[in-house]
Amino acid sequence: MDPLRSLILAAAGNDSIRRLVATTPGSRDVVRRFVAGETIGDAVTAVRGLAADGRYATLDYLGEDTTDADQAEHTVRTYLELLDRLHGEGLSARAEVSVKLSAVGQAFDEKLALDNAYRICAAAEQCHTTVTLDMEDHTTTDSTLGILAELRRTWPWVGAVLQSYLRRTEDDAKALAGPDSRVRLCKGAYAEPPEVAHDGADVDLAYVRCANVLLEGDGYPMFATHDPRLVSIVGERARWYGRKQGSYEYQMLYGVRPDEQRRLAADGDTVRVYVPFGEQWYGYLMRRLAERPANTAFFLRALVSR
Ligand code: FDA
Repeated sequence: MDPLRSLILAAAGNDSIRRLVATTPGSRDVVRRFVAGETIGDAVTAVRGLAADGRYATLDYLGEDTTDADQAEHTVRTYLELLDRLHGEGLSARAEVSVKLSAVGQAFDEKLALDNAYRICAAAEQCHTTVTLDMEDHTTTDSTLGILAELRRTWPWVGAVLQSYLRRTEDDAKALAGPDSRVRLCKGAYAEPPEVAHDGADVDLAYVRCANVLLEGDGYPMFATHDPRLVSIVGERARWYGRKQGSYEYQMLYGVRPDEQRRLAADGDTVRVYVPFGEQWYGYLMRRLAERPANTAFFLRALVSR
């Protein structure tokens, strides 16, 4: 792994650095570029801002390393309150939620995670919106797809994430390309061993193969990437498969390539922005910085220039 990336990922787990970032004047604005804020109100404000220029949102309540049922319950209640708030403010057609099963108990009690995900999906249905299950490292893929299958028996619209870096993903894409399915295709964000994952350009090639499978299928594919080459290949492949705009969508992260997000939306494409919020923003921010050294330079410059 790139040394800068390793350093930043190490900092992600360091509490002193977290405190330093949280208390350094000026860091708040920089954090706000990638994280909507700490509260449900902040998340709703971000949705309204995105909706103003035609973008949609998927909201992620940031929570990591949930190790007990109380913490998982807090996460579930936050999602329920968020869904209520979106519905109450007439924004449920503009926003859905993304849920990490690890945040609702998957690491210590798979049955609890299923029950908790069930509660969030039931609330989403009442509020006329949808849920997408985020995908985490490869040791959780089978469990997450198993829980997805259970949830889809009641709600076929529950979305899954597939990561093109995993060697298994083309098969998973074939299995999930049927009617009503919603699949978010991304490259994958975790450090994975070569036995299970492609590397470098092979990840992009696999992305295109999986995109073809999803576009040829009957579901609703969601292409989560900032990669200009993949964005344009997806557009071209969508036309080739006779897909109309609106029968698939692009997704990008909050604060990343916002001009491109607006450009695609202005061209008539559906663009959904992944909006993280919550008190536990630090680990998320560090992973975004690790992904892209240019972001780290931007962050450090903003800190010292204050
Ligand atoms: P990559 O990082 O390879 O970058 C390719 C090119 O894109 C760059 O060379 C540059 O041109 C452009 N680019 C990238 N970042 C940029 C930036 N900050 N500013 C300007 N240009 C930039 N992962 C996961 O494992 N599980 C999940 O559930 C999800 N969910 C998810 C949802 C959504 C909506 C998104 C967008 C992403 C995820 N991811 C994810 C993360 C995903 O797997 C991946 O780590 C990141 O999206 C980065 O990969 P890219 O495809 O953007 O390309």
